[in-house]
Amino acid sequence: MDLGIAGKTALVSGASQGIGRAIALALAAEGARLVLNARNEAKLRQTAEAINAKGGAAVYLAADLSEPETPARLAELATAEFGPVEILVGNTGGPPPGAAAELDEASWRAAAELLFYPQLRLTAAVLPGMRRRGWGRVLYVTSISVKEPIENLALSNALRAAVTGYAKTLAREVAADGVTVNTLGPGYTATERVNSLFAKNSARLGKTPEELLKAQLAQIPAGRMADPAETAAVAAFLVSAPASYLTGQAIMVDGGYSHGLL
Ligand SMILES: NC(=O)c1ccc[n+]([C@@H]2O[C@H](COP(=O)([O-])OP(=O)(O)OC[C@H]3O[C@@H](n4cnc5c(N)ncnc54)[C@H](OP(=O)(O)O)[C@@H]3O)[C@@H](O)[C@H]2O)c1
Repeated sequence: MDLGIAGKTALVSGASQGIGRAIALALAAEGARLVLNARNEAKLRQTAEAINAKGGAAVYLAADLSEPETPARLAELATAEFGPVEILVGNTGGPPPGAAAELDEASWRAAAELLFYPQLRLTAAVLPGMRRRGWGRVLYVTSISVKEPIENLALSNALRAAVTGYAKTLAREVAADGVTVNTLGPGYTATERVNSLFAKNSARLGKTPEELLKAQLAQIPAGRMADPAETAAVAAFLVSAPASYLTGQAIMVDGGYSHGLL
């Protein structure tokens, strides 16, 4: 299937490693021109170089997405290099672990500045142009936690739900303008994020990371974690031209992990 995004300008944040990097590579393989963001410049450059070495087109801005001005800077870079953003993939790092009853307000504010406000600001920077031009794709990376709240990950459980509610509302507001808005919830995916969560939980639960991994895999019907490229393939379809009637949806890429009917 031709995804119909060759030559389109795509902005992917959190693109230096893991799921965001895999999405950037997948969109570049379809011919999209990429603007990449993360904080670590060296790693971000590697992603851009991997794309450019294959004949793709990628530029990057190393900046903290929690800084309010970063989204507008990214949109400006895109416009200057490739033209206005037509595809937005809002992705960031995950929040630290913590129990709902124990987290302080500063932790909630910091997590909102990482998981919620950047999505709003990225959207504000690119959505008016998408609506004017009558075509746009917005995809927020959230988590399986919107369907199956994860123990001791209260910040994710609550704030991913906020992003999902925002996306659902926005999708209905802009559907008639040719802009789709969806969320993608990764299940357990083999990235550095998962390794670090297992390491952090290991001391708390008195188990080795290997024991935690084994217990986790036993909960996943597919019997394994996702490769980030599998998650990215779904993302690429969600922002594609043929996905024009798919909007307001929360799509889980979880190997069958979530139990809910919908
Ligand atoms: N992996 C999983 O199993 C899983 C499951 C459910 C949900 N998720 C969620 O999916 C998202 C991606 O997961 P992942 O496993 O790919 O995570 P990851 O390996 O930790 O990668 C996160 C990416 O976001 C960037 N980032 C982090 N904080 C940032 C900031 N303040 N400003 C700009 N960029 C920032 C990181 O680069 P820098 O550090 O250089 O900034 C990196 O490129 C996360 O939100 C995660 O919580 C993952």
